[in-house]
Amino acid sequence: MTYAQIIGWGSCLPPARLTNHDITTVMETSEQWITERTGIKTRRISHVKNVELAHVASVRALACANVSAKDIDVIAYATTTADEVVPNTASMLQRSMGATNAACFDLNAACTGFLYSFNMMSDMIRSGSVKTVLVVGSERLSSLMNWSRRDSAILFGDGAGAMVLQASAQESGFIQGKLGCIEDTRELLAIPDFGLDAIAQHRPLDITIDFHGKEIFKNAVTGMARACTDVLEQSGLGLEDVDLIIPHQANLRIIEALVKRLGADMDKVVVTLDHYANTSTSSIPIALCEALGQGRVKPGMTILMAAFGAGLTWGATLVKWGERITPLGSTDVDLPPTDKTGLELIQEAIAIRASAADRF
Ligand code: UT7
Repeated sequence: MTYAQIIGWGSCLPPARLTNHDITTVMETSEQWITERTGIKTRRISHVKNVELAHVASVRALACANVSAKDIDVIAYATTTADEVVPNTASMLQRSMGATNAACFDLNAACTGFLYSFNMMSDMIRSGSVKTVLVVGSERLSSLMNWSRRDSAILFGDGAGAMVLQASAQESGFIQGKLGCIEDTRELLAIPDFGLDAIAQHRPLDITIDFHGKEIFKNAVTGMARACTDVLEQSGLGLEDVDLIIPHQANLRIIEALVKRLGADMDKVVVTLDHYANTSTSSIPIALCEALGQGRVKPGMTILMAAFGAGLTWGATLVKWGERITPLGSTDVDLPPTDKTGLELIQEAIAIRASAADRF
């Protein structure tokens, strides 16, 4: 039997911070509302492109695994905020890393994208068709936000996380997974005029998000809970066998409701949204890296991951950790520095959006 072991991990959080207080200076909201309704206190805002975040996270994951970029068979790049659509972003990452032997594809399943990629790539390794894979989730959601929409703009942050998976005879990595998409919920979280159809229909391109937070909230809790229960049942394990839970980091109240519904304990749950907010598809690999850095992941642990996102896509994945919990190597590779604050970066984004609106 071949397993898809996680042998490397890395993340990249841009340095500029945007606090709840900063946000109160550009829209009508309050620090108290954001903290109480979401658990979020601060988030990171990127001064670079999406692919640069992905590059740093990926190079760190490769150094951690002590694997050369040339050994990668596939780059699976999950993102909702691709810098370019044609050709795909994964090929940009291939070039920047020198991953000359890799097949490259992007995957968009919104915040569930990393789990979709992780499950698919684990299956490819387990079936024997590839040996070493880079799964990366990277988002620059700040570029997609409408900073006059307080219902959505307060929720998100930028960042990337990556994992290197490799064929192994040791029982570890993906144990069980379940993915899905709730039908008839597309309109709950959508950017309807952000594609070629808008152009074909002579409508102006517009990246305004249609966002129905309350409905998403309910679907997120029920969808993730069902997915978690299903993967546990399919694998013959109970919640008592799970050592760590890494949920998508959208809202602390969603995580608490999920944990309550499962009958789990918050002590087992990794929470990073207070300092990184919702980084969409990157939130699970970033949270995993943080848990590893804090020594919360132990050899042989069983880890349950669950996510939901626009679509509404959902998924849960059960993973058995291997023996190694420390990196084999490290790298000096980092983002270029910036003197700008998070607030300055979003003020620039607001100005760019205003002048773009004049053009359309
Ligand atoms: O990962 C996938 C994407 N993430 C999500 O989709 C997140 C899912 N949803 C949520 O996390 C929550 O639904 C929100 C945090 C978005 C909203 O929390 P809520 O408890 O569902 O609030 P609500 O939408 O019912 O709004 C309650 C009130 C409203 O005022 P009225 O109508 O009661 O007077 C809103 O206008 O809060 C108001 N409100 C705000 N007030 C201050 C909404 N956003 C804000 C804000 N600041 N930023």
